Amino acid sequence: MSSSIMQNTIVRVMQRFNKSARARHLLELKRHATARRLWNLGLVEFQRKFLRNAHVIGYPYWMVVGVTSSCQLECPGCPKGRRIPDHRRKRAMSYEDFKHVINEVKPYVFNVAFNAWGEAFLNKQIFKMIRYAADQNIGTLVSANLNDLPATGPEEVVKSGLERLVVSIDGATQESYERYRINGNLERVLTNMGTIVEAKRRLGSELPHVAWQFLLFEHNEHEVEKARSLAKDIGVDEVYFMTAGNRYGDTRVNNQLTAETSDQFSAVNQSSEVACARPWYFMEINSDGGVSPCCDIEAYDGLDDFGNLLTTPLKKIWNNEKYKESRKLFQVKGYKPKTDTVCTTCYRVKEYNANPRAGTAPAHWFAGALIHPVETILAYRTNRAGGVG
Ligand SMILES: C[S@@+](CC[C@H](N)C(=O)[O-])C[C@H]1O[C@@H](n2cnc3c(N)ncnc32)[C@H](O)[C@@H]1O
Ligand code: SF4
Ligand code: SF4
Repeated sequence: MSSSIMQNTIVRVMQRFNKSARARHLLELKRHATARRLWNLGLVEFQRKFLRNAHVIGYPYWMVVGVTSSCQLECPGCPKGRRIPDHRRKRAMSYEDFKHVINEVKPYVFNVAFNAWGEAFLNKQIFKMIRYAADQNIGTLVSANLNDLPATGPEEVVKSGLERLVVSIDGATQESYERYRINGNLERVLTNMGTIVEAKRRLGSELPHVAWQFLLFEHNEHEVEKARSLAKDIGVDEVYFMTAGNRYGDTRVNNQLTAETSDQFSAVNQSSEVACARPWYFMEINSDGGVSPCCDIEAYDGLDDFGNLLTTPLKKIWNNEKYKESRKLFQVKGYKPKTDTVCTTCYRVKEYNANPRAGTAPAHWFAGALIHPVETILAYRTNRAGGVG
């Protein structure tokens, strides 16, 4: 199928969706589609959905590149904010290293987000990096607290080719904003966001799409309407509200919301997937090149990484033992991995093992056996021995 036919097919599928996040993802997908990326996406998704095999033919098509591991704020729900020792030591990725990473992944990847644990705008090379990715026809996203932006920043943000900017502002008054964004200054953030919106107008650019993201806590849920009104005055493209996690159970914040707020906003975060999909389609690359299967985890430098993309090619990392053992955790309930990884103790594995809808799907075994007969039989034997199924 030619690339243009495939792109039109995507557009037709898109038309069936309304203005939801899914529609946006599909639009981004279309914008950055090449025949090779689409083929890779199809291969990966087929294997993830129907085979769920451990050895994936195809490569990750969605990626986070953490260009810095520094941050000025001290958010209580973030390992960076809590200054946890050895959690991704302070480091900024160099432009040369960034180019190396992008060159490795560009045949497959549609989108790169620049926000691992840290504040991307603290990396002085950020605009050059975004430009480089955009020049490879890769979609770019920065999620930022936006407390700091160089004087030339607003114009540079627009000229860099950045596609989507998500600004984390969890409050409409300084008092509630700084309850989670400790050290943050709301006025400065709103000014920075406003100057970017203004620079877009001045330069006649539709991009970046500027979104205000508001994490909901007990202390700020009453400010939803005020935030909507401020967002309208500033002229951002979108404002959305999300329930927040509190992974450390920090008592300075409470993420329990009133029933009314929960009913209104909880669905945004819900997923119908039983198995975690990330080991099949996603990769996080940290500022030292360290590879993580996702950014949900509090991975430690070196120890929890699945490899290093600055020293090892993508093709060698993607199907190494850590990746394969992590995928097998979602092939069959109760799988006992040969090698423990950060996935082994993850809540997603616990949920999968406890879920009646999870389990050994015969189609997965059958199709997996066709592609990788030896691996499938060995995995089956291991799991029978472990008494699961
Ligand atoms: C780790 S942050 C890094 C980017 C940037 N420093 C920021 O905070 O926007 C990545 C994303 O996680 C979000 N985040 C931070 N704390 C969170 C929490 N407790 N629950 C859910 N999302 C959270 C941020 O708002 C941001 O969208
Ligand atoms: S601003 Fe982002 S990276 Fe910084 S501490 Fe908060 S959540 Fe973490
Ligand atoms: S299982 Fe957990 S740690 Fe592994 S990729 Fe999924 S969310 Fe991340």
